[in-house]
Amino acid sequence: MYTGIQHLHSGVAYLALLALIVVIIYALIGALSGREFTEKDRKIALIAFILSHIQLLVGLILYFVSPLGFSLLQGGGAMSDPAARLTAVEHPLINIVAIVLITIGYSRAKKLGSSRAKFRSIYMMYAVGLVLILSRIPWANWLN
Ligand code: HEM
Repeated sequence: MYTGIQHLHSGVAYLALLALIVVIIYALIGALSGREFTEKDRKIALIAFILSHIQLLVGLILYFVSPLGFSLLQGGGAMSDPAARLTAVEHPLINIVAIVLITIGYSRAKKLGSSRAKFRSIYMMYAVGLVLILSRIPWANWLN
């Protein structure tokens, strides 16, 4: 169970990060070119939105089955160990904030009036979300 969920969380991470980068560039080009925001643009933004929500769900399950998640908080001392604090506290909390921002960016784009404002809502909020996510990835665990 744990290994399967861990691999899923690692695999979806590649897809979610790639989708966020592509959507940010796409929305930025849309805003700069001054073209109209279409249904196709909304659907492209939706791909990164869905992938980050899938990652949130998988992350929440992983948090309770991984030895690097909630269980680290029970022994005490996790807050004074930077590696334990990263996977048990900072990574989950900051990523939840990032996904909330991505959700706001996507939802606001649907309500805003002008095409430029729609594109801007997506590239700004997705970019802030991406920076937050990248700032708290446990790189040492992931790339080794
Ligand atoms: C877009 C959001 C997220 C991304 C891109 C992401 C990405 C990652 C990556 C790349 C790793 C390292 C995987 C590995 O070592 O193979 C990881 C580990 C972890 N993530 Fe996330 N994550 C996200 C959201 C979350 C959330 C919301 C939670 C919990 C609520 C969470 C809980 C964890 C835990 C507990 C680990 C350590 C797992 C272990 O190796 O045992 N993640 N995450």
